Formats: sequence, structure tokens, C-alpha cells
Amino acid sequence: MESTDADFWFSPASILVALVTIIFLLHRTWPHLFQPKAEKVAGSIENAGTNNSDLTVSKEPEIPDGWWSGREVFELERRALFSQTWLYLAHSSQFEKPGSYQSFDVAGFPVFLIRGKDDRIRAFHNVCRHRAYTITRRETGASTILGCRYHGWSYDTTGRLVKAPQFDDVPGFDRSQNSLFEVHTHATDQGMIFVNLNSGEPTAFDSGVSLSLSRFTGLEGKFTWVVGQTLSGNFNWKVGARSRQLDAYIGELHRKISEIVRLDPIAKIVRSITRKNAIEERVLFPTTLMYSFQDAGLCLAISFFPASESRTHIRYDLFALSAVDKAGIRSMSELLQSTTENFTAEIELEYRSISAKQGSSGDLNNKDIHQVLSRLQEHAKLERIEGGQILPAMHKPEGSTLFQKADQLCKELDCVSGGLQNGTSPSPLDW
Ligand code: FES
Repeated sequence: MESTDADFWFSPASILVALVTIIFLLHRTWPHLFQPKAEKVAGSIENAGTNNSDLTVSKEPEIPDGWWSGREVFELERRALFSQTWLYLAHSSQFEKPGSYQSFDVAGFPVFLIRGKDDRIRAFHNVCRHRAYTITRRETGASTILGCRYHGWSYDTTGRLVKAPQFDDVPGFDRSQNSLFEVHTHATDQGMIFVNLNSGEPTAFDSGVSLSLSRFTGLEGKFTWVVGQTLSGNFNWKVGARSRQLDAYIGELHRKISEIVRLDPIAKIVRSITRKNAIEERVLFPTTLMYSFQDAGLCLAISFFPASESRTHIRYDLFALSAVDKAGIRSMSELLQSTTENFTAEIELEYRSISAKQGSSGDLNNKDIHQVLSRLQEHAKLERIEGGQILPAMHKPEGSTLFQKADQLCKELDCVSGGLQNGTSPSPLDW
């Protein structure tokens, strides 16, 4: 049969040619429509603020889409910032004896600090090398042997695997290859402990921070930890440390805490002569603020660690230069909790207002926002060059064939003994 023009235009071949042509033209005209979502966010971050010739002098950075509540921005922050920046976590006085530990959730990275028998404070990923369950069960505690409750693998304070039931007899199983993943730490002369989650070689600790801390009157002398707690709130972490409510919160704490401390008259006179300002502040980018209440001989550290794009853990710790009695500790503890809860509620309100106005930084202190944005831009650019995500905190799996066989054996034993495989909890270990 003879084909006609109409037959050609409605044939499958002609429809395919038409579709390809339309897609080609759309791609040329609006290329962003064809980018994957994560790349779009990275692209948006990378280009944000480029209308400003110099980010450091701009008063109002251009805030990219998703800055306050986007999952992709949070994931980029985890890679660009939290995986490779020195972060303040705690002070050495919080670890009284060998085995004293404290657990943290740093942007979804579970980490714990522990004092070893050699007195050194180390940091580890809080992840069992067997099947990645959490090692420490409490926020704070003390034990020189940390046993994973699931299948009994146990680690010492240096992270060494010292016991692996059911694996010890497996030929070729090497305990030394299954120590906890250590996290880089840096302790300042004042005993402040910073961590860096980069699994490779981290950047050198900022000497400017060391110098600034050495001049911080809040850390002069020997002080001890008094109280501390972690609260949580529904807001993006970037709002917390830059909140317009911060000054009022710190001012109220200072006023009320000074009433509790009630210095003796001579100490009051000496401090009022020797101290010029009642409150001194240090910003430990990106998560922490430190305050010295000089007239009261107290120092407060407050940190904002993201749990997600819209939830934040607020960690506060109070230190004193001189001993505080039990009644004083109780009063300070109640005061800090109630004041910080009110502050959290105010940040939540502020967050809702800011996130409703996408592309705005509201009344926040913009200095640090510039710095965060600039770090994200740099990382997004590197990822674009690499053509994929760069995960600085990731440790490469070292699983050997023997280990995999041993793991399979453990799974089978689980089934036999009625462990997790059967949906019941194994008996917890005592530590
Ligand atoms: S997950 Fe820790 S021992 Fe199995």
C-alpha cells in the first residue's frame, strides 16, 4: 500500500523525532529544569550572594531557598561544615575520672568523649564496629569498658575492641581491625575540647581561637563544672546562636545568677575594681557561645547542634571558679533550665517568623551567616567539580571476607539464641 503525507506525520517515528526536538529545545532554554534536586540546591547555594561583590561587607546576604528548613541545605551543612570544622564540645572538668564520658549528637553524627586511664580525653564515633548500634546508652556516665548491648562487643577507653563474643574463635578474625573510629580532638590550654570529624587530615586548629580564648577572663584560674543539660527545640540551628533574643536571655541569666551567688562584700569590692565589664563573650564558630559572668566568677557555654533542618539540641554548661554548695547548684540548675526553656520557646517563634519569609535573614546577626554561606558555597563548588558528593566524615568500610563470614556466623547465632533477629531484645550488659 502507498504511504501518504498524513501517514508520515502520525507515524511513531515522526512522534519520536518531535519529542526529542521539544526536549532539546527545552534543555537549551531552561537547563535548570533538568538538574537533579540536590544539584539545584547546591547550585542555588553556590550562586547565592554573587550579586554582592564582597560577602564580608554586605549587610544582608542573599539567603538561598531552603536555608531555614530545607533538607538538602542541612545535608550540605553536614558535609561542608560539621564534617570538617573544629567544633567545641566540652571542658575537661566535665570528665572527673577515667571512664567518665559524655555523648553528643552533632548534626546527626553520634559522638562521645571519654577520659582514658592515661588521663587523655579522646573522642569516638558512637557506633559499634559490629553492626553500627550506639555504644553509650546515656548522655553522661562512667565506665572504663564500654560494652555494646546487642552482641556484647566491648571497647576500652582508647577505643580498642577488647571482647567480641562468638567472634574470638573465628579463624582470621582480627580484633585490632575493629577498634572504634576515633575523632580528632584538640584541647586548649584552658581545657576546652574541640573535635573535628574529618576522617582524613583535618585543617590545623585556628590559632586565632587559641589566642582569643587565652585572653578570655572567664577561663582564668581553675574552675569546675557546676551544672549542664541538653534541651531541644523546633528551629533551625542557625537561628539559635544569632537570635535577637540572645542578649535578653544572657542578661536575665546573669542578673538572676548573681543573686544566687551572693558574694561576700570584700570579694564584691575586689571584683568590681578589677573587672571592667560584667559580661564578656566569645563566639566559637559555628555552634557555640561562651560568656564570662565576671562579677559572679562563673562561665557559661551554650551550643546549638542541629538534629535536623528544623530541630536543634541546645547544650549548656555552667562553670565556677570557686566551690558552689548543693543549694546553690540546685538553684542554678532550676534557673538555667527555666530560663533556657523560655529562650527556646522564643527562638521557636522567631524561627517560624523567619522561615515564613524565605530569602530573608530577619533581624539576625548576619556576620556568621556570611561565614556559613561562604563555607557551603566553597564545598558546593568542589562537589560540582568532582561531579558528586564529598563526605569528609565518612570512614571507608574495611570489611574482609573473613569478617563477612564471621558476621554471617553471628547473624546465625542470633537466630539460634533468639536475639534481635527474632524481634526480642538481648539482655543488657552492666556498665
Ligand atoms: S552491634 Fe554492637 S555487638 Fe553487635
